[in-house]
Amino acid sequence: MSIIGASGALGFGLTVRLAAAGVAVTLGSRDADRARDTVARARAAVPGAQLQGLDNAGAAAAHELVLLCVPFRSQSETLTNLHGALRPGHLVVDATVPLAAAVSGKATRMLGVWQGSAAQQAQEMVPAGVSVLSALHTVSGAVLADRDRPLDEDVLICGRRREDKRRLARTLDRISGLRCVDAGPLEMARIAESLTALLISLNARYRTHAGVKVTGLPGGDLFPPLAPER
Ligand SMILES: NC(=O)c1ccc[n+]([C@@H]2O[C@H](COP(=O)([O-])OP(=O)(O)OC[C@H]3O[C@@H](n4cnc5c(N)ncnc54)[C@H](OP(=O)(O)O)[C@@H]3O)[C@@H](O)[C@H]2O)c1
Repeated sequence: MSIIGASGALGFGLTVRLAAAGVAVTLGSRDADRARDTVARARAAVPGAQLQGLDNAGAAAAHELVLLCVPFRSQSETLTNLHGALRPGHLVVDATVPLAAAVSGKATRMLGVWQGSAAQQAQEMVPAGVSVLSALHTVSGAVLADRDRPLDEDVLICGRRREDKRRLARTLDRISGLRCVDAGPLEMARIAESLTALLISLNARYRTHAGVKVTGLPGGDLFPPLAPER
């Protein structure tokens, strides 16, 4: 898996948990030296982790699963810069949240995005044949980075194709305490992204790092394989 923006709070936290779960991760940064520094930081937390650090384009080209963990104000610029590195078959997982903080507004307010959500904007920007999923908006980078803290929460995944969501869930479910949930088509990202603003409000009120856990779901595999076509 590749993480674009791995030196940031969410990207680094995911790196630590994925590495601890034995997943090979390529860390991307605008600055390859910063990516290598982040690898060193992550290896201090997870000795022996399978990590490499590259510039963002190199990282995106290294794996088919690419997590986009950059601030919303730089999402479109980052995707433009990745255009040459993304190929048909790549799956981009957009974790960006269009918080009003991107334009000096409140972090508890959302910006309107013409396409409906940051993820739908991303889907418009990637090359043909590249799919975008939306995920991870309700998972705190600070909690992920603290390996001593047990996790017990859901990851809401929105996207068009069940098979793509299964692919992401197979990797994220390796992180103990995270459960991936199929949250519907990409247009549901508008709602999933706005949960971040709600959680930021709760975090300020209760001085915590709140997450989301959906009740009433069936046990077992929440991404069963599709029945073969006849
Ligand atoms: N933090 C969380 O707990 C959390 C939880 C859920 C969702 N999110 C969302 O996930 C995204 C990342 O959050 P974050 O807190 O990790 O962000 P962040 O720490 O502010 O930034 C992440 C990384 O993005 C890169 N970046 C920063 N400014 C950039 C620019 N102008 N152009 C291109 N790249 C830039 C930087 O990496 P380089 O300098 O190495 O390139 C930075 O380390 C945001 O959209 C956020 O809303 C965050």
